[in-house]
Amino acid sequence: MSEGLEGVVAAETVLSHVDGEAGTLIYRGHAMEELAGSASYEAVAGLFWDGFADGPTDEASIRAALGLARRRATEIAAPLLAATDGLSAVEALRLLLSALSDSETIPHHILATSAMPVFAAAIARRRAGSAPGEPDPDAGHAADFLRLLRGAPASDAEIAALDAYLVTVLDHGLNASTFTARVVASTRAGLFSSVVAALCALKGPLHGGAPGPVLDMLDAIGSEDNIDAWLDHAIEDGSRLMGFGHRVYRVRDPRADVLKTVALRLRGGTNWIAFAETVERRALALLARRKPGRRLDTNVEFYTALVLDALALPRELFTPVFAIGRVAGWTAHILEQERSGRLIRPQSRYVGPDPTPPRALAG
Ligand code: ACO
Repeated sequence: MSEGLEGVVAAETVLSHVDGEAGTLIYRGHAMEELAGSASYEAVAGLFWDGFADGPTDEASIRAALGLARRRATEIAAPLLAATDGLSAVEALRLLLSALSDSETIPHHILATSAMPVFAAAIARRRAGSAPGEPDPDAGHAADFLRLLRGAPASDAEIAALDAYLVTVLDHGLNASTFTARVVASTRAGLFSSVVAALCALKGPLHGGAPGPVLDMLDAIGSEDNIDAWLDHAIEDGSRLMGFGHRVYRVRDPRADVLKTVALRLRGGTNWIAFAETVERRALALLARRKPGRRLDTNVEFYTALVLDALALPRELFTPVFAIGRVAGWTAHILEQERSGRLIRPQSRYVGPDPTPPRALAG
């Protein structure tokens, strides 16, 4: 038995591959870093859906289909937004996603992918006291999300940065949320139910909930002369340093470097980025000293935090924005699982007491 299923192969996929020793990530035969920053989210989503989803998978058709589906997602969210008051942003997203019905006529992978940015933007605007915006079906996916969120168009540099981020996190092998999606899909519960389940898995701080806490950590450290003392104290306390460590990577997560470049491009070499780089360097040195042999390195969430912060996104929207990227991967895995997979039903090893004789219970 392997408690965290480490080393257990639980699916065959043509979608993506993570080599944790080499620090590489492959998207359907392409190195992820070749695509992030050069291919749009819509184009890479099409690459993932190709062969699994009905309908065209070229970039222009997907952009148009997502644009139209954003309108339907807006209609679905409207009557439910008041019910999200008092919930965290990711809980609110979970609530709205649950309203997607199996009877929707738009292809479900398209509607789920469009719903994510529409819902996230509507949730953020409601919390700011504003009404949701009207989607622009002709706009690109990243551009329309930023416009819906802010009520005004974003700059080309910001749109390019978000697009690169969404591609960088689009898929990542059999991570916890994707595995969850495949388990639910294997019961034939449907694509929307599988996506809701995946979001629930993503929500945790050991998975997609880390980038907000990365910024909290940088804020709490505050200044360069406090770095070592703060990090030492955190490790002494038994806390985990957010943005470091990974179940699969034993070397630097390749996504960290892609996102560092995106953050630098967006913000330039500001003091803030320089400070984060110093924290990263000192944290890695401390982890090597205090956790020898563990091979803990920087993960995707460290520089995700800096990119999303540079885009002026509210911290509590970081996990929903991760879901905006990952949903194309989830839906491709769900479609692949539905096409080829068996019901996922592992076994447990019973370590409880032997059955009690009935007379002993009756006393
Ligand atoms: N800070 C301090 N110590 C750590 C960290 C960390 N970030 N990560 C692992 N360790 C330590 C553990 O405490 C453990 O030490 P011990 O053996 O002395 O008890 C050792 O390293 C091995 O840890 P595991 O629990 O086996 O590592 P696991 O593979 O389960 O954890 C995880 C991976 C959950 C990502 C972990 O590294 C972590 O909690 N990181 C911080 C949260 C984070 O950044 N999450 C985002 C991950 S990326 C993503 O999901 C998109």
